[in-house]
Order: sequence, then C-alpha cells, then structure tokens
Amino acid sequence: MTDISLRRNKVAIVGAGSVGATLAYASLIRGVAHDVVLYDMAKAKVEAEVLDLRHGLQFCPPADVDGSDDVAICANADVIAITAGAKQKPGQTRLELAGINVDICRKLIPALLDVAPDAVIVMVTNPVDVLTYAALKFSGLPKNRVLGSGTVLDSARLRQVIARKLNVASQSVHAFIAGEHGDSEFPLWSSASIGTVPVLDFAAPDGTTLDEEQEAQIAHDVVNAAYSIILGKGATNYAVGLAGARVLEAILRDENGVLPVSSLLDGFHGITDVCLSLPSLVNKSGVASMLDVPLSDREVEQLKASAAEVKSVQASLGL
Ligand code: LAC
Repeated sequence: MTDISLRRNKVAIVGAGSVGATLAYASLIRGVAHDVVLYDMAKAKVEAEVLDLRHGLQFCPPADVDGSDDVAICANADVIAITAGAKQKPGQTRLELAGINVDICRKLIPALLDVAPDAVIVMVTNPVDVLTYAALKFSGLPKNRVLGSGTVLDSARLRQVIARKLNVASQSVHAFIAGEHGDSEFPLWSSASIGTVPVLDFAAPDGTTLDEEQEAQIAHDVVNAAYSIILGKGATNYAVGLAGARVLEAILRDENGVLPVSSLLDGFHGITDVCLSLPSLVNKSGVASMLDVPLSDREVEQLKASAAEVKSVQASLGL
C-alpha cells in the first residue's frame, strides 16, 4: 500500500496581538499550513484568540490551530513569524520602536530555535528591517533563513492606489516599493508596469493617465498610509496580516515567488550589513535569491539613503 501520508507543515506565530491574530486568521483562510499555532506570554489572550479562530475552522481549508503561553507550542515549526513587540503610537515612526523590540527579539530567538531549529524566521515586528538584521545576528542562521515582511505590504498599497486611479485590477499592476519598510521607502517607478506597459505610458480606457506629479503624490500616500490608519483605529492589522500570510505561503509552498521581502544586502550597489526590501525569490529555503533589479540612478540614491537610515539605527543599538 503506497504511503500517501503527507508530513503536516506548521507555522508558529509569535505574538497574539492584533497583527499576530490577524496573521493567523489570514493564514487559515488562505490555507497556508496544516497547523497554525500562536505563542504569547499572555495566557488568557492567546487561549481566547485560539478558541475564536478554532470556531471558524469549518469555513477554512483543512487545518488546525492551537496556542499557548509556553514556547513549546512552536516545536518543529517550519516557519516562525514574529509579530511580538511594541507597536507605533500615533505619529511615532517605526524606527523609534527599535530599542525595545530588538531587546524582545534578543530574548525570543534562542528560545524559539531551541524548539524549532530548522525553521525559517519571518520578522513582522517593526522596525522590520532592523529586527530582521538583529534576528539574523542573534540566530547565527544563514542569511536566506531570516527575512522580514518588508515592503510586501507597501507594494500592495502602491498597486492598489495605482489600480484605483487607472481602473485596472491591482493584480495586473506590477510595481514594487523598495528599501526600508518605513519613511525612506520608495517606489521602483522605472520598472513599474501594467501588463507590459510602463505605468507612465499607460492610458486607462477612459483616457486617464498618470503624470510625474501624481506619481509623487501616490508615493507620499503609500509611505504615510500607516500613520493615518493608526490615527484612526490605533493600529494596522488586516493588510499586514494578509501580506504576512502571502510570505508564509510562498515559503511553505516552495513557490519561488517574487516578493519584496526584507533580507540582507551583501554588496548590491555596494550596500552591505543591512536588511532592506527588494524583489526576491522566496521558497522553502526562505530567500533563495534577491533579483538583480534594474534601478534608475535616482532609485540607487534612494536605496543608499534608505540603507543609511536603517544602519544609523542599527549602529545606535550596537548591532
Ligand atoms: C504598516 C505597519 C505594519 O505599515 O508597519 O501598516
């Protein structure tokens, strides 16, 4: 009798706050893994989130969900997504969270790798680029096995804004935000297209086009999107949860999908020792490779400026 038993895959989500719980919710709805577990020190909170998620399982692809305030719940996870940490207050930048969240990461990484030594680590906690670099250092793992959700969310925001303006499906807008997931991020306009038509050359059926002034406004709106949401509802969670689930999906399905995740740059345009987002191939190994993305001169300058912003915070923390 052929053994058709499939090894169950497992994602462990650290932090059962609004982002972690929403990431678990999105992962279940998208059928990302056979087992989704939540780990949080707040016992009552994590147990309540798990119960609430479990009650909806019949509406999801087959999966199980569990959780605990004991890190053992993460045992043998294939992927660990870390969302734990302080979150932005209204008007606060992501980089301002670095000190407290790097300390949390420093404590978490060894405990998680003790129980899940083969896991790929996906950082979601902000400032995600600094935290990804810190997790890489604290874990000692090869650079492909530690990545951050980076600008997957920001790129989705960019595509959505362009799609609404030009009345096309956002899935047909091929555009990326690169650099820091934060104030120094920037669109890769030089390679942005709709179908195969450069965004600046595209005319919607009603004649609508984008000019450089509108592109600048779009970039501003995308960079500042989180601030207005945080002002209104205290945090962001839905889009970042969906973006994180997409990253987990590309890893667990061994997709070789192109996603702008945050990972270590070791020489791209002379930039080293910092994690930033650029379109990369993501598969079961984590970040298989960063694409050799063609950049305009301005985009190279913006990438270097973004690297300097993130590295200055790293230096201030002794990373
Ligand atoms: C945002 C948070 C996740 O951009 O940084 O919504």
